[in-house]
Amino acid sequence: MSFHSIKPAELDENLFNLISKDWFLMSAEKEGRVNPMTVAWATMGILWQKPVVICAVRPERFTREFLDASNVFSLSVFDKSWRKMLGYCGTVSGRDEDKVEKSGLTVVHQDGVPYFEENRMAFLCRKLCVTPLTEQDFLGDTAFTGKWYGGENNADGTGGGYHLLYIAEITNILVKD
Ligand SMILES: Cc1cc2nc3c(=O)[nH]c(=O)nc-3n(C[C@H](O)[C@H](O)[C@H](O)COP(=O)(O)O)c2cc1C
Repeated sequence: MSFHSIKPAELDENLFNLISKDWFLMSAEKEGRVNPMTVAWATMGILWQKPVVICAVRPERFTREFLDASNVFSLSVFDKSWRKMLGYCGTVSGRDEDKVEKSGLTVVHQDGVPYFEENRMAFLCRKLCVTPLTEQDFLGDTAFTGKWYGGENNADGTGGGYHLLYIAEITNILVKD
């Protein structure tokens, strides 16, 4: 299976559908192990004259340790046949299971960034900035912050720790041939 590179301006997909309907599998490597987690809270655009993605990651995620241990990560997009795997990687923590092995995914690398032979597309990303959201950042709407933050994180996305925003340059977009 091989992939070719496209530039961000050549991306021919609706970003809102890509992020909120297809979802991403976010993967980073630490000490030779890759841990994937499903993400659907992200945004893409331009900052500092670079194509960037901003991913909102709760501090309690095992993935956070992997993101902080590496300068790079990938966001993989899969076709519909992998939907169950995305559900699994979005509900089970790598603290409890080796999600790559259990999902039957094959890790490959380009420029030191791990992604998967099975993904239909992968955004390769290099971290530029990590900044935490805090309670004070929200403009007084306590009903809003109360819904999304505090206590345990629930399956519907409510509750949990204030997100860390990982802002990363999109250094390559790989599309399956
Ligand atoms: C559809 C979907 C989208 C998700 N999006 C995010 C997200 O954007 N940020 C986040 O921190 N967690 C998100 N999660 C939750 C994590 O994927 C989930 O807690 C996962 O088990 C964490 O794995 P880890 O502990 O191995 O990092 C999402 C879950 C699902 C099912």
